[in-house]
Amino acid sequence: MLKGKIALVTGAGRGIGRAVALALGKQGAFVVVNYNGSEEKAKETLSLVKEAGGDGAVYGCNVADFAACGEMAAALVKEYGHIDILVNNAGITRDNLLMKMSEEDFDQVMDVNLKGCFNTMRHFSRQFLKQRGGKIINISSVSGVIGNAGQANYCASKAGLIGLTKSVARELGSRGITVNAVAPGFIETEMTAGLPEGVKEALMGQTILKRAGRAEEVAQAVAFLASEGADYITGQVISVDGGMAV
Ligand code: NAI
Repeated sequence: MLKGKIALVTGAGRGIGRAVALALGKQGAFVVVNYNGSEEKAKETLSLVKEAGGDGAVYGCNVADFAACGEMAAALVKEYGHIDILVNNAGITRDNLLMKMSEEDFDQVMDVNLKGCFNTMRHFSRQFLKQRGGKIINISSVSGVIGNAGQANYCASKAGLIGLTKSVARELGSRGITVNAVAPGFIETEMTAGLPEGVKEALMGQTILKRAGRAEEVAQAVAFLASEGADYITGQVISVDGGMAV
């Protein structure tokens, strides 16, 4: 149970982030639903958390903005006194083949997916160190492990995130802080909804379980890593991919 814990989930207005917010809320955490675009969607997530018996708040912040992440960390610590769980879920895709990929598309994906995680970890770790405890869970991707044609920027950001996770785990571990990554495979969310049917079929075909995953199935792994049950797990990459990358 996560009663009394304060959790921040970035990009939690929909998809996997929303499912993570719900899973943490159901276990008793007070969940801060971060959003960048739509406050309305973040409030929807919060309503679902409350309907499930949990509680929380919404906080708007672009994770790609270093200073804004600093303000978010300071504001949450001021408001709640402590922060216990940080889930770096916010992510974007700007897919294209290398030869057609613009510099802007490369930079944007890096800024949100990789630097965004650096930004929050950099600012929240100050409080975690003070508390001598905290759980950081970064949402990477199976693409960061095995690569994917048409997603050089995305895969590089998600692979970078694995290195970031392992390094920060090594830095903060002696203070009781765990840092892990979850690598989802093909999960049915709005991010993947626009993929052509043929591509979806092919992705499902690559899994051992022969189906797409659900956001809730990723959220269960995140909730476990956020729990006391995972106190002795750090620096790991947990795949939730139906066996895609075996
Ligand atoms: P999604 O597109 O439904 O949700 C992403 C969320 O991040 C959105 O709410 C969006 O507003 C938010 N976001 C984007 N930029 C932001 C920023 N600068 N600051 C704050 N929030 C921002 O995507 P989905 O599928 O829920 O993905 C969640 C995470 O899981 C992402 O990091 C994604 O890369 C990762 N993932 C998803 C997979 C899938 O098959 N859906 C597979 C592997 C990883």
